[in-house]
Amino acid sequence: MEKFVINGGKPLTGEVTISGAKNAAVALVAATILCDEPCVLENVPEISDITICMKILQAMGADIQLVNKNVVKFDTRGIKNPHVPYEMARSMRASSYFLGTLLGRFHDAYVAMPGGCDLGDRPIDQHLKAFRSLGAMDELKNGEVHCYADQLIGSQIYFDFNTVGGTINAILASVKAKGRTIIENAAKEPHIVDLANFLNSMGADIRGAGTDVIKIKGVDYLKGITYPIIPDQIEAGTYMVAAAATKGDVLVKNVIPKHLESITAKLRKIGVTVEENDESVRVSVDGALTKTSIKTMPHPGFPTDMQPQFSTLLTLAEGTSIVTDDIFDNRFRYVAELRRMGADISVDGKVAVIEGVGKLNGAPVVATDLRAGAAMVIAGLAAEGTTEVSDIQYIERGYECIEKKLQMLGADIKRVTVTEVGSVQMSG
Ligand code: EPU
Repeated sequence: MEKFVINGGKPLTGEVTISGAKNAAVALVAATILCDEPCVLENVPEISDITICMKILQAMGADIQLVNKNVVKFDTRGIKNPHVPYEMARSMRASSYFLGTLLGRFHDAYVAMPGGCDLGDRPIDQHLKAFRSLGAMDELKNGEVHCYADQLIGSQIYFDFNTVGGTINAILASVKAKGRTIIENAAKEPHIVDLANFLNSMGADIRGAGTDVIKIKGVDYLKGITYPIIPDQIEAGTYMVAAAATKGDVLVKNVIPKHLESITAKLRKIGVTVEENDESVRVSVDGALTKTSIKTMPHPGFPTDMQPQFSTLLTLAEGTSIVTDDIFDNRFRYVAELRRMGADISVDGKVAVIEGVGKLNGAPVVATDLRAGAAMVIAGLAAEGTTEVSDIQYIERGYECIEKKLQMLGADIKRVTVTEVGSVQMSG
């Protein structure tokens, strides 16, 4: 077991380069199953969710070669059996994308009910509704979802509410279906556009990604290409908030500023200076931060994946902030941990009331999920004294080399191995 030990109170300064987007990468790696030739992805983040996706492909018979740590060549032609190993599937949410890709290629898919961060109940009924619209049937047996069809026929898919995963799976299953598919009430996140761009570069015919109506004409063949994954909007936002929380001055490089607009707007609202350049943003703080209200929304609204980090920042701002996050049932589990550090936050269902306390104090805390873990790291960087963040395996799902990137910004953060109760060993 490993944890992060952070001696806080040091402003972050310097430059940080953002990695490829986790939530795009998990979709694009799964989508390589649909490609009829070898293809290469660039800017692949070195994170555990991607390692699992690649292991799933290999376990099914794909050939995967690392050109370097962020460039990967995929040849999925060797996959013969459309069955994702059970334990691998249940360890991550994005394993559900293998339902769409295997169904698209084999018209047959076996994938365990997906797992992932515990944010409350996370059903896949909308994904199955999309597959059924295309003519597929499904059954749940021994914890596995089995989807199958004689053939997939393009159709109209209407989502009952905004679903990122459902939209991605609908695209994956219909890209090679016969005829035309129209996805109504589609999600508009940047990674959905990235998936469509990737598939279109291979020869797919997908229009309207990034709007709420996506039109797809099925094609028979997808050719091999080399494609760079977009930068991670949430990783970038996390470093922007960390810079603000430590009253630092950080240039966040390799970003698409347009994707960060909702985060930038909120940072400016509370008194943070954000300068936008073509492919970078500079974040600095000069003076006190003030309260605000946030309601998480699907893109282009304020992302739920930035809520824990931003709420942590608001504990350091003057006044009372209100944060509403109703995308998932339970995205405030980290609050109990933040209270250990002196935060004054009360939660009533999906609304948190944050009284600014000005400063936090170091404490041993737990990462309750990926973004909650990032929030604990930010709290530790800003706090006086030492913070120990345990269960960092959650953080590693989505942040490439987080402690190294923070060290480069001047943070005092170390990864230590916990060998037995009360005894720790430094691991660089
Ligand atoms: N939902 C259903 N039925 C469905 C699908 C979704 O009830 O069939 C519900 C969910 O339970 C949730 C809401 O609809 O309450 C929205 O879920 P959505 O499908 O949009 O989310 P997701 O695809 O499960 C992705 C990201 C999450 C991110 C959300 C929202 C991936 C792999 N995961 O999840 O990312 O929070 O969209 O933007 O892309 C993270 O990166 O930390 C993370 C959790």
